[in-house]
Amino acid sequence: MVLTGAEIRQSFIDFFVARGHTYVPSASLVPGGDSTLLFTNAGMVQFKDVFLGTDTRPYTRAVNAQKCMRVSGKHNDLDQVGRDNTHHTFFEMLGNWSFGDYYKKEAISWSWELLTQVWGLDKNRIWATTFKDELGQIPEDSEAAQVWLSQPGFDPNHLITSGRKDNFWEMAETGPCGPCTEIHWDLGPEACEKQGEPGHVCTVNGDCGRFTEIWNNVFIQYNRLSPTELVPLPKRHVDTGMGFERIVAILQGVRGNYDTDLLAPLLDVVQTLAGQTREQREQNLTPYRVIADHVRAATFLIADGVVPGNLGRNYVCRMIIRRAARFARKLGLTEPFMAHVAAKVIEIYAEAYPEVKQSETLIFDTLTREEQRFAETLDTGFAELNRLMDAMRAEGQTVLDGKTAFNLYATLGFPLEITRDILTEEGFSVDEAGFYQSMEEH
Ligand code: ALA
Repeated sequence: MVLTGAEIRQSFIDFFVARGHTYVPSASLVPGGDSTLLFTNAGMVQFKDVFLGTDTRPYTRAVNAQKCMRVSGKHNDLDQVGRDNTHHTFFEMLGNWSFGDYYKKEAISWSWELLTQVWGLDKNRIWATTFKDELGQIPEDSEAAQVWLSQPGFDPNHLITSGRKDNFWEMAETGPCGPCTEIHWDLGPEACEKQGEPGHVCTVNGDCGRFTEIWNNVFIQYNRLSPTELVPLPKRHVDTGMGFERIVAILQGVRGNYDTDLLAPLLDVVQTLAGQTREQREQNLTPYRVIADHVRAATFLIADGVVPGNLGRNYVCRMIIRRAARFARKLGLTEPFMAHVAAKVIEIYAEAYPEVKQSETLIFDTLTREEQRFAETLDTGFAELNRLMDAMRAEGQTVLDGKTAFNLYATLGFPLEITRDILTEEGFSVDEAGFYQSMEEH
């Protein structure tokens, strides 16, 4: 029996509630009183103060499904969205936490139990990584490695060590952090897009699509104060995060996140609106995925009070709506259409996140207004960018200067990300630092 996304979310929560965890509802996408972050980018954000020891909760074990956005700062997946099956701007993170309570043994054993016994995933397709500092400054996590090796049926050859980039997790430039153990799923040799390339070997954290990370167990034991200062915390904590859409794809046995019952219906709406065939949809997956991802993200942002605007979070909301509109042009969608996609988002998520239903009218109106506003300048912007690219070609230049890119934003409403998308498609790039400098001066 194939579980629905909603059932999978609930089974995760039930599993941990049965093990003494308190269910804590998702926090807003806008982190309260935290200037280090633009958006909630992980389930642990609402518990940051508990890790730091400056706040307490009436429980020491928690579980939730958290709304997350990874479009800025330390965790930014925007460039990947649309290109592959597994990245999003907005996504849900399933997580369980221990606040100075259980530690590595319980966390890893429960991960293994849930994946292999409750959800019945094939043990032979699961891999794990543990931390080994390439600089030799932070102790290696041999404790986590030992716990992995004691899991029933875990293949010892599927345990590998990895360094700071993949196995030392940090929330932002400062804040709680620690070594982590990541759980990866083998999608099978057919998921490798580099099959047959000389010298290519599929590896976890490698450069092909065969392995996908599904769950990260972080053992929070430090507070980062600066790039060089790491101070031990008074207590040790567990912070886990599972990519919800990824696990749903695996459990539903589909190709990727955009084929799950969470996202495929959004692509269906787009396909109907664009009047395309299934074959055309397959040939245009990038725009389909970008539109589905961005409209879902904008729907959740607006429900959390973030409307399109010129700065900070509001800029991000504007940017993703406009970026979706630009990709929609590739499918021939020139009239406002996003409210139809948002209606499907609301239908799928209203039960788990009632706020989207409560803000329904605001969401529809905001999307439509922003689409209309962008439509007024989009053609002029395209023409101007084409003119600029012609000039660059004639002069043998490849990088658009930041001031010009900023002017495109200030006068024609082209966010940097759209300008960059278009330039990249034509083999150019843009001076992003120069863009931000001009924005600041402005
Ligand atoms: N906070 C950890 C992460 O986001 C679990 O990967």
